[in-house]
Amino acid sequence: MRYTVHDFEIAARAELDPVYADFIAGGARDEITVRANEAAFGRLQLLPRVLRGSAERELGISLFGHRASLPILISPTAFHKLVDPEGELATARAAAAAGVIMIVSMASTVAVGQVADAVRAAGDDVPRWFQLYIQPDLEITEALVRRATDAGCSALVVTVDSPVLGAGERNRRNGFHDLPPGLRCENLVDLRDGERGHVRQIAMSPELNWEHVDWLRGITSLPILLKGVLHPEDARLAVRHGVDGLLLSNHGGRQLDTVPATLELLPEILAAVEGRVPVVLDGGVRRGTDVVKALALGASAVGIGRPVMWALAEGGEKGVRRLLELLRDELDDTLALCGASGLADLTPDLVRVPTWGP
Ligand code: FNR
Repeated sequence: MRYTVHDFEIAARAELDPVYADFIAGGARDEITVRANEAAFGRLQLLPRVLRGSAERELGISLFGHRASLPILISPTAFHKLVDPEGELATARAAAAAGVIMIVSMASTVAVGQVADAVRAAGDDVPRWFQLYIQPDLEITEALVRRATDAGCSALVVTVDSPVLGAGERNRRNGFHDLPPGLRCENLVDLRDGERGHVRQIAMSPELNWEHVDWLRGITSLPILLKGVLHPEDARLAVRHGVDGLLLSNHGGRQLDTVPATLELLPEILAAVEGRVPVVLDGGVRRGTDVVKALALGASAVGIGRPVMWALAEGGEKGVRRLLELLRDELDDTLALCGASGLADLTPDLVRVPTWGP
């Protein structure tokens, strides 16, 4: 029985090829930011209210008019077929069953159209979003946006923290550079790069700048969120460039090492955007109490990355379903213990920075 996200992590490590387990758990360089993300949640304290009881708690959210049953999104993670033969289809079905928004990675091992079909077949019209790395070839980027739009994705999450790929030293040491035979980035299939023929790998764009964001704004009417803005000045610029939201993320500590924990940055980023766009946070969310802390400080929702990969590795679609149920239970329980009847009751006074002690 898996009782916590940590249990899924242990089970996944027992299940997986150690090279893949390292790929998931690892981060850039010394992994200081990986540890910081989780530690930041541990440092904050909760200060509950009492005698405000309610029989049930409201856990649903609405983002850009999209309803979801939980304020927990599935952050985009690459290569789900590395850990489960059904890959992103399994994740998508579990997300749809739970009414949770899945952000499909551009580096998915199942094409976004098929992922969307799986969500539709699983019942409700649960929104799915698409994560995009703007490619140096804008025609390819446009084709990817079209694929996502045709698949019914209802928002674009543009990852901007990866002008070059972060140095995952575990992967280097393990010699993990390529997908195993039979797996590929399915969203790239049949896309043609002017000079090089068919695109096989995602290209990072070291030349990316704000004009690319303006260009993207001009070719799509979908809501655009930027993922990976950490500097408050960039958050202000993002709003000025007409983005619809931010996914405050340090890529789970996989890009630039030693950047702050996302939770620590949240107040500064919220101050910078002045309520004009929603801010979703990911990085180190492992408990219902973590979700409550981020929301109490003003995040509109949180995202989870590694926990989904661990659950998928442990039990495929069922594993991810159990993970989402577990987090729902923890969140519900934490709200009750905080005297909150719903997410709207989560206010900054419920969160406290310790004033003494080590
Ligand atoms: C990621 N992440 C990521 N982000 C992105 O924008 N596109 C991607 O393809 C991937 N791929 C990816 C693979 C794996 C294995 C991991 C662990 C992460 C980053 C991801 O979206 C998210 O920001 C972090 O995973 C959040 O931190 P936690 O929840 O893993 O601590």
